[in-house]
Amino acid sequence: MNQLIKKPESVFGLATGSTPLGLYKEIILRCKARKCDLSQVITFNLDEYYGLSSDHPQSYHYFMQENLFKHIDIKPENIYIPDGMTDDVQKHCRWYEEQVRAHPIDLQILGIGANGHIGFNEPGSAEDSVTRLVDLSEQTISDNSIYFSSKEEVPKQAITMGIKTIMSAKKIILLASGDNKAKAVKCALEESPSANCPASWLQKHNNIDVIVDEDAGGLLKN
Ligand code: F6R
Repeated sequence: MNQLIKKPESVFGLATGSTPLGLYKEIILRCKARKCDLSQVITFNLDEYYGLSSDHPQSYHYFMQENLFKHIDIKPENIYIPDGMTDDVQKHCRWYEEQVRAHPIDLQILGIGANGHIGFNEPGSAEDSVTRLVDLSEQTISDNSIYFSSKEEVPKQAITMGIKTIMSAKKIILLASGDNKAKAVKCALEESPSANCPASWLQKHNNIDVIVDEDAGGLLKN
């Protein structure tokens, strides 16, 4: 909210999944109460399943529409989400990366996967990775299968912003809750930065807040 007051034309990087749902509900409530103006805001989503159309109920397009965009006064043309149905993936990823560069992200919201992924940057993701098509790990497919009727229906690939793309944000807020995230939070914050735990690259960012509940922070030494 402060970011919005400071700069009405802020650029936000957004995540999907269960973690940011409370935040989106709060934004909707506060904006309705105070009639805040989001008409100049630009948003970039981290990722989208490859092969899901924007009207597929499990697509991240659909998620964002249902859980945030349809409740606020953001302009459709200011919303960027990777296109899971693109017929030229490389060209689309290059274009997405250029759009982020042209509209530098002021504030990036992140969740974290149980395996330490951010966006869909799975273990093995390099520090200099950019927007690209990736294979989802077995763990991510299994974790995300709760949103699909079977594990087989979970797409095996996704388009995601890279680590470098995420790190280009001026400020980052990483959110985590629940003991299934404790190992990931530990590796993100207390292990040396490496591709084994992609969230650990965030230690190199100079403006990041990490907000975890007791369970997610349960393995932290400090
Ligand atoms: C989603 C995303 C993922 C999730 C992560 C945690 O856009 O980028 O990195 O933030 O998988 O998911 P939840 O919040 O469902 O536990």
